[in-house]
Amino acid sequence: MSSEFKNNAILGPINSWMFKILSGYMNYLFGKSKRDLFKNHPETVVEIGPGAGANMRYLKKGTKLIAIEPNIHMHANLKKSAKKYGITLEIKTVIGESIDLPDNSIEFVACTLVMCTVANPAKCVEQIKRILKPAGVFVFIEHVKAKENTIVSFIQNVTHKPWHWFFEGCNTKRDTKSLLESAGFSSLSIEEYNSYSPFVPITPQIKGRAIK
Ligand SMILES: C[S@@+](CC[C@H](N)C(=O)[O-])C[C@H]1O[C@@H](n2cnc3c(N)ncnc32)[C@H](O)[C@@H]1O
Repeated sequence: MSSEFKNNAILGPINSWMFKILSGYMNYLFGKSKRDLFKNHPETVVEIGPGAGANMRYLKKGTKLIAIEPNIHMHANLKKSAKKYGITLEIKTVIGESIDLPDNSIEFVACTLVMCTVANPAKCVEQIKRILKPAGVFVFIEHVKAKENTIVSFIQNVTHKPWHWFFEGCNTKRDTKSLLESAGFSSLSIEEYNSYSPFVPITPQIKGRAIK
C-alpha cells in the first residue's frame, strides 16, 4: 500500500460515488474520443487512476485491467464496474509515481483526467514510459490550464482552492501538454480542444496518443 497517498475517509467515498454517477455523462462528453483511443487495445491494459471504472465500457470483454489506484475508496466501485463489463481486474494500491510493474512489460497504458491530480505528474509519466514496452502506447485525455487572461483562466483561478480540496488534489492549472511534449516519447499526437460542459474549470482539454 502506498504511504504517499492520503486516503480521505469523507471525500474519498463521496468522489467515488460521484465518479460512478457521472460516468454516463462522461461517456456523453468523451465517449467518441475514448472509443477511438481504446480502439485495438491489447488483452492487458494498465490504467492509472481509473477511479470508479468509467473507462471499462470501452474495453473488450475479457480484458485484463491492471488498475493503479491508490484511493481505496474507489475500489468497491471499480470491482462493480469490472463485473458489469466482464473485465478481469487486478488492483494495485500504489501511486502512479511508483508503479510496481517491471520495465518494458506493458503494451498499453491509459489515463483520463488523472495527471491533474497526481502529486508529481512528471514522475508518473516517467513511470508510464518505464513500464511500456518499446513501441508501447499511452493514451490520455486530460484537462489543462487555460490560456492566461481568458474567462476560463479567471474561473480556474477563482475555483482553484475549493476544487483542489473537494476533488482531492485536482489542479485545474496543470500544463500537462508541455509535460507530455518534453517527456521524450518517440511519437506524440496531441489535440487541444474545448469541451464545453457545466464543469467550466476543466474546459480546455487535450487528448492523444504517445508511443514509447
Ligand atoms: C478525477 S479522477 C478520474 C477518474 C477516472 N480516470 C475517470 O476518468 O473518471 C482522478 C483519479 O486519479 C486517482 N489518483 C490520484 N492521485 C493518484 C496517483 N498519485 N496515482 C494514481 N492515481 C491517482 C484518484 O484516486 C482518482 O481515481
